[in-house]
Amino acid sequence: MINPNPDTQSYNEVGLLVHNDVFSLSEIEHIKQMIDSYVQEGHNGIIFERDSEVIRGAHGCHLYDPFFTDLVTDHRLATFPVNALGGDVYVHQFKINFKFALDGARWPWHQDFVYWQREDGMPAPRAISAAIFLDDVTEFNGPLTFIRGSHVNAELNQTLQHDEDACWRSTVGEILKYELDRDVLKEICEDHDMLFAPKAKAGSVLFFHPLIAHSSASSISFGDRKMVIITYNRTNNTPNPKNMKRPEFMGNKNFTAVKIKS
Ligand code: SIN
Ligand code: MN
Repeated sequence: MINPNPDTQSYNEVGLLVHNDVFSLSEIEHIKQMIDSYVQEGHNGIIFERDSEVIRGAHGCHLYDPFFTDLVTDHRLATFPVNALGGDVYVHQFKINFKFALDGARWPWHQDFVYWQREDGMPAPRAISAAIFLDDVTEFNGPLTFIRGSHVNAELNQTLQHDEDACWRSTVGEILKYELDRDVLKEICEDHDMLFAPKAKAGSVLFFHPLIAHSSASSISFGDRKMVIITYNRTNNTPNPKNMKRPEFMGNKNFTAVKIKS
C-alpha cells in the first residue's frame, strides 16, 4: 500500500496545515513593500474598517499587479493545493488582510465556502486557501482561529446579517453577510481544546479548508498582522460566470490553471 503524504493526511484530518519558515524575512519585507506601493497607487477592491480610514483589506491584487500575479505561481504556495486536490488549480480569490495594530477589527465565525457558493456559484468545496504570514502571529494581534476538524461538517447553519443583495463589502466586513449560528458553534465545538490559533513567525504559510469554521478577534497589539490569502480552486470546479454576483476582484472569472514556478 502506498503511504499517504503526511501533509495531506494531517490536512484531511484537521482541516489545516502550517508550514514554518517558508519565505525568508527579506522576501517578506519585499512583499510588504509591494503592498505599500499597491495601496498608494489606489486600486479597486480595497475596503476600510468601519467608520474609519484604516485599510481592512485589498482584493484581487493578482489581477492588477504583475508582482502578485507572479506570487500565486510560487511552488511553496501552489504545490500543496495541486497535490491535495489532485490536479490543476486556478486562483479564485486573492486578498490581503491588514489587521492594523489596535485598529484591525474582528472576523466573526464563518465558513468560506458559503460565500464562494452563494455569491460566486462555486459548485463544490474543492479549493484550498494558502495564507502567508507577513508578521509574526501572536495571541494579541488577532490570530486566525479555527475549530479543528470542523471541515467535516459540510455546510452549517448561517444567519444572514445583511440584505440578500448587499454589496461585496458585506462579505468581508466586521459584520459578515453569513455568520455561523451560535447554536451550531456550541454543538460543533464541545470544548476549548478544539480551538486552534496557529501562532507562527512571519514567513510561515498556513493552508486551510473551505469548510473549516474560523474567526479572528480584534487586534489589541501594537504591531500589525498582515496576511496574504490566496484561494486555489480546482479547474474542474469552476463557477458558471453568469452566477457570479461579486466583482471580479472578489471572484476571478479567468479559470486558467496556475503554472507553478520553482
Ligand atoms: C478570513 O476569514 O478570510 C480572514 C480572517 C482574518 O484575516 O483574520
Ligand atoms: Mn474566511
